[in-house]
Order: sequence, then C-alpha cells, then structure tokens
Amino acid sequence: LKLLSVVSEVYPLVKTGGLADVAGALPAALKAQGIAVRTLVPGYPVVKAALGRLEEAFYFDHLFGAPARLFAATVGGLDLFVIDAPHLYDRPGGPYTAPDGRDHPDNAQRFAALAAVASGIGLGLVQGFVPDIVHAHDWQAGLTPAYLHYAGGRRPGTVMSIHNIAFQGQFPASLVPALGLPAHAFAIEGIEYYGTVGYLKAGLQLADRITTVSPGYAAEILQPEAGMGLEGLLNQRRGVLSGILNGLDEAAWDPAADTFIPAPFDAGRLEARAANKAALQARFGLPQDPDALLFGVVSRLSWQKGLDLLMDGLGTLIDIGAQLAVLGSGDPHLTDRYAGSARVNPGRVGVEFGYDEALAHLIQAGADALLVPSRFEPCGLTQLAALRYGALPVVARVGGLADTVIDVNEMARASGVGTGVQFSPVTAPALQTALIRTQALWQDRTLWRQLQRNAMATDVSWDRAARAYATLFRDLDRERAA
Ligand code: ADP
Ligand code: GLC
Repeated sequence: LKLLSVVSEVYPLVKTGGLADVAGALPAALKAQGIAVRTLVPGYPVVKAALGRLEEAFYFDHLFGAPARLFAATVGGLDLFVIDAPHLYDRPGGPYTAPDGRDHPDNAQRFAALAAVASGIGLGLVQGFVPDIVHAHDWQAGLTPAYLHYAGGRRPGTVMSIHNIAFQGQFPASLVPALGLPAHAFAIEGIEYYGTVGYLKAGLQLADRITTVSPGYAAEILQPEAGMGLEGLLNQRRGVLSGILNGLDEAAWDPAADTFIPAPFDAGRLEARAANKAALQARFGLPQDPDALLFGVVSRLSWQKGLDLLMDGLGTLIDIGAQLAVLGSGDPHLTDRYAGSARVNPGRVGVEFGYDEALAHLIQAGADALLVPSRFEPCGLTQLAALRYGALPVVARVGGLADTVIDVNEMARASGVGTGVQFSPVTAPALQTALIRTQALWQDRTLWRQLQRNAMATDVSWDRAARAYATLFRDLDRERAA
C-alpha cells in the first residue's frame, strides 16, 4: 500500500509541536506494517536547507500566483515531496507566523497550495508514486480531501486526522474563487463553514475517514465544550471517526542512550537518575537536594496547556517543599507570570524560556514528576516521554492524558499498576490537591520506585498505533476497490 502524508511540519526538519513528532515518526512505523509513505511538506527555508540531493518531480506554471516546483528528496529516512514555491514559503518566521508573531497574511493561499499539490499527487501527477491513500493532518492539509472529492473520477482514499480541533483554518468567503474548486463546493456539504471557508471543516466533511490522536479526545470532540463548533458535523460522521493513540519516537527518547543527559539510565538502574536531577537543579538554580520533590514542565505556554492554573496554585507547591523547573515558550503574558514567580521564589522555582530540545530531555530525565495540567489535550507527547523516563506524570484527566496515565488510586495501588496522578476538574484547587497527593506518594520511596518502574514499562511505542492505522488504511483501500 502507498500512502501520501500531507502535513505542515515534520520532525526533525521543522517543528512547532507534537504534530511534527507524529509526522516524523509514523512513516517508519508504517513501513514496518508494509505501507510505503511519502510526506508532502511546504518548502520553508529550513526545509530546503536540509535537503541534499534533489530530484524535480514536477513543474507548476502557476501555483497560487507564481510558478513552483515539486522536489523529491530523502532526508534522515523520510521520503519527502517538497513544494518549492518561494512566493508562498520563502520568508522569515515560522511555518505559520511572521517574526512579529502574527499569522502570515496569506496562510489561506499557502496551505491551499499544499492541499492542491497533494491532490495532484493523489491523482497521478508524479509517475512512480500514485498513492492509494492520502492522509491529511490538521487544518493546514484540510482542503486535500476537498480537492480530491471535487476532482471527480477515480481517486485515492482520504483520511483526515485531527491533532488539535482548536485550530480550524477559517478564511473569508471572498477566497473561494482563488481556490480553483467548483462554485458549488461553497456549500454546507462542502467547504462552507458558518459563512466562511473552513479548511478543517472541509476535510472533516469530505474525507472518507476521520481520525484523532486518542480515543478519549475522539469522544470529547462530539460534545460542544471540546468540539469547538464542529461537534455537529462530527456527530453526523461518527461512524467513520476513530481515535488512535499516538506513540513516542523511542529512538529519539531513549533514557538508556540519551546523549543530552549526563547519566543515561534504565528501569534497572534508576539510581543513576540522581545525577540528572542534580544537573537539572543546578541548571535551574535550585538547591541540589535529592529529597526535594522536583516537578518539571516542558510545554508551549498557551491557554490549552493550563499553565496559568499552576501559577494560581503555586502556593501549595511551595508549601509542600517542592521545587519547580519550567521550560516553556509562547504567550508573553504567561512568560511574564512565570518569570515573576521565579523572582519571588528563588531556589524553588526555575524557568527557562524558548525552545530547547536538550533541556527538554534533561527535565524528563531529572524531574521526579512532570506536570501537564492541560484544559484539553488531544493526545500529548510529553507525558509519554515522562513515562518512559520515569518522571511520574501528574496530568489533567482529559483527552489523551486520561488515556495514557494510570492514576495511582486505591485499586491501582492494590493491583500494582499505577503510573502517575490524574486530577479533575481542570482547576487550580484540583491541581493543588494533585500536588499534595504526589507529595504523599513521594514520602514512600519504595512505592515511588515501583511507580517509576510501572511507568517505564508502559508501551508507548509507535507499533501499536501503526497497526491500528494500517488496519484503517487497508480497510479503506479495500472498500474503495470494491
Ligand atoms: P503540543 O503539540 O500541543 O504542543 P505535545 O505534547 O503533543 O503538545 O508535543 C509537544 C512537543 O514539543 C514534545 O515533543 C515536547 O517535548 C516539545 N516541546 C514543547 N515545548 C518545548 C520547549 N519549550 N522546548 C523543547 N521542546 C518542547
Ligand atoms: C497537537 C495536540 C497534542 C498532540 C499533537 C500530536 O499539537 O495539541 O495533544 O499530542 O498534536 O498529535
């Protein structure tokens, strides 16, 4: 089976969050299931800089305003198609935003182009790679199923995956003529969304299958609170909606062979973690006290991640004698609050702002517990890394967090299966209670060691997920062939 993955970011070339991790790891896992994946990405400067030997696969006279080329290349085991369209992608800033933090003004065109090219490849543009399935990720790829649907004739099966329904890609209706879709596509059964064009909506409406990244989130988005306006459509299409839990790239996140940390370790050598904890404390200006319960955070700083609640509840963390090491980037208002709390609580709260891969690893390897108080979380990858590194996850009971962490409640404890702490509702008081519960567990080091071993034994591999995707893709392919 041949599959085209359509995505706006892919690790290790370009990453703003977990989407890139998934897009980067899934192809290898699918290969083991007998599925050959090519990944289509925009040719941002960072992507083009990483390409070695290129092969021109197609030339477009006109792609949303100017000529463009499609390159095929292989980088770090990923088979890529890269859209070289300087007028759309060659500029400073990130994949979505300019250096001033604002969205690129032509994101509608930039990602319509991604979908249009994906559709072209789906319909046979590139000799030698005609996919059986086209897999579109998030709103940036959302028009892909629409282009394929309205092309008419034989087409590959389409799958739309939701990594985060909060970002929907809504643009003014005046855009419609430029998209090159038939006029009747702008309708409720097409790309129209409350009077605008909805990229994610279009994908959800017109793809053959819809997936999201955990069973829990798949259920939550059928409700208004998490569905964010799309719950009605999703309820209509719930027969083709499923949740497949993400895995973790176990080569990138391997505590026994991690070159970012001073003391690699495994479940049989947990004492080696102490050196990582000491290094982490030193890095954040915290006293190197092995007995202080050290909480870590590795996160985007945004409303979704609930880190304002941790600020609201910080008094409890201080009262129980714990320490906090935070690595985050994002919302300037939250950055200010965290910087302020580090000033007010020297030796107790340490913060680093920015994106730092090495430091993320040190936090996972050195913290005793990892806090993830998200208001919603489609899957979440940091708690998976925490499980693998024996940093007990303390998580809000939502979405993929609820699906991946086993709360150490009485029965879990009696059965010896707990791997972390869950709390609900997602409020500061409930988070504070969770901090106190965690501190109580920490008092019993024998129990804590057992919990760490349970956590580290959790199957966070991509194998499980890849098998589920492979089944879905094959079923869809058979259905379309019939
Ligand atoms: P989301 O995609 O919503 O941000 P995930 O938990 O799925 O959340 O993925 C986040 C990814 O980004 C993880 O690989 C995590 O380690 C990484 N990450 C988040 N913030 C930072 C940061 N400040 N520095 C380094 N890595 C980060
Ligand atoms: C999104 C979600 C996150 C998920 C990631 C990868 O960024 O916020 O929960 O893990 O996508 O699927």
